[in-house]
Amino acid sequence: MFTADITVNSSRLQADLEELAGIGRAEDRSIYRMAFTEADMQARRWLQDKLRTAGLEAEMDGAGNVFGKFPDRPDEPSVMIGSHLDTVPAAGPLDGALGVVAGLECLRRIKEENLHPDRAPVELVAFSDEEGRFDGGFFGSRAVRGSLIPQLIHEAADFDGTTLVEAMTSAGLEPLAALAARRPPGSIRSYLELHVEQGAVLDSLGLPVGIVENITGLFRWQIRLIGKADHAGTTPMGMRCDAFQGLAEFAGEIPRILEENDGEESVATIGFIRLLPGTVNTVPGEVEFSLDIRDIDRQVLDQLADTFRRALSAIARRRGLMFEFQELSSVEPVACDRKIVEAVSSSVESLGIEAHRMNSGAGHDAQVMAEIVPAGMVFVPSVGGRSHSIAEWTHVEDIVAGANVTLRTLLQLASTER
Ligand code: HGY
Ligand code: MN
Ligand code: MN
Repeated sequence: MFTADITVNSSRLQADLEELAGIGRAEDRSIYRMAFTEADMQARRWLQDKLRTAGLEAEMDGAGNVFGKFPDRPDEPSVMIGSHLDTVPAAGPLDGALGVVAGLECLRRIKEENLHPDRAPVELVAFSDEEGRFDGGFFGSRAVRGSLIPQLIHEAADFDGTTLVEAMTSAGLEPLAALAARRPPGSIRSYLELHVEQGAVLDSLGLPVGIVENITGLFRWQIRLIGKADHAGTTPMGMRCDAFQGLAEFAGEIPRILEENDGEESVATIGFIRLLPGTVNTVPGEVEFSLDIRDIDRQVLDQLADTFRRALSAIARRRGLMFEFQELSSVEPVACDRKIVEAVSSSVESLGIEAHRMNSGAGHDAQVMAEIVPAGMVFVPSVGGRSHSIAEWTHVEDIVAGANVTLRTLLQLASTER
């Protein structure tokens, strides 16, 4: 059905990546395109302009997800290629952006070659708030999946206290319209995502492409330890209810807890801390912090959640603190669809390149989509395994290899029986 040796236009792909990286870029060249900020919305407008210039349909749903479609096949169940445009603060140029720009390039090449995959059209999506500025992440893909609830939209806020409602409203979106972003069952046949590995496996093997077999599960908590603010000079150590000391003891317990719960592959991160009242000469009466726990095994995740809860409760009791936690998100570990894994593998072969089958330690919209449609991922190396950092980089020949594998896989998925 399609020219098996089709490839992307690599100079156009690179130019688009560079252009997109300029949106939300700070003085030090790191990128600030957090969900629903002006920079994020500018990137969504940029993508819609690119789609329309290429003669493709561009639309945005109530959750702020941007879709690119072939105008002549608007209603057929699609093979979807996607990722996200939002970033963490001080991000690099590729996390999420690569999958969206490569997806745009795939649709353009399919249109330029006048290809008409007989089973399904290919569709592009740029999901909103994958990074979890609000409510633990994957907001846009969860909206498409139909798993948002009004309470989430009314209550979600970021760590600076900006609410999701405020952010979406100032972005020109109607927050509750996100509830209507659910895609009708059957309207998407399969989902594929190209993403930088964000780890060091491919870079250390010197291989250009990763074929993702499983994606890690995760849970994210927002935790508060509440003690007593006291004078730093006059309060004897034995009489303090120092919330920070409670956190420090908990943080020290993490390696032991992972070890005791078969957590060799598990990772635990405290990425955000806020001490209150936060003055030099006051014993911290309260600490708020995040906890991000990941593992490929659901049972290990459940065990870790239970053990962390018990550890927090024991430390709080011993130190005269109260503790409360809110689950921000809990995302299932998923196995990628076998047929998609094999389709990626045959695309790799058709290009005569080497690839490595591997798991993803990062979370992705693909694992949210995997709960409603067959989903798979293609990785390209992150130099030095760096990501969520200005140091994030992938060599251009690997970007092109990954985009070509993605293009050929999309065409296979769109041309064959489910
Ligand atoms: O946190 C993650 O794994 C992804 O970068 N959102
Ligand atoms: Mn990402
Ligand atoms: Mn990320």
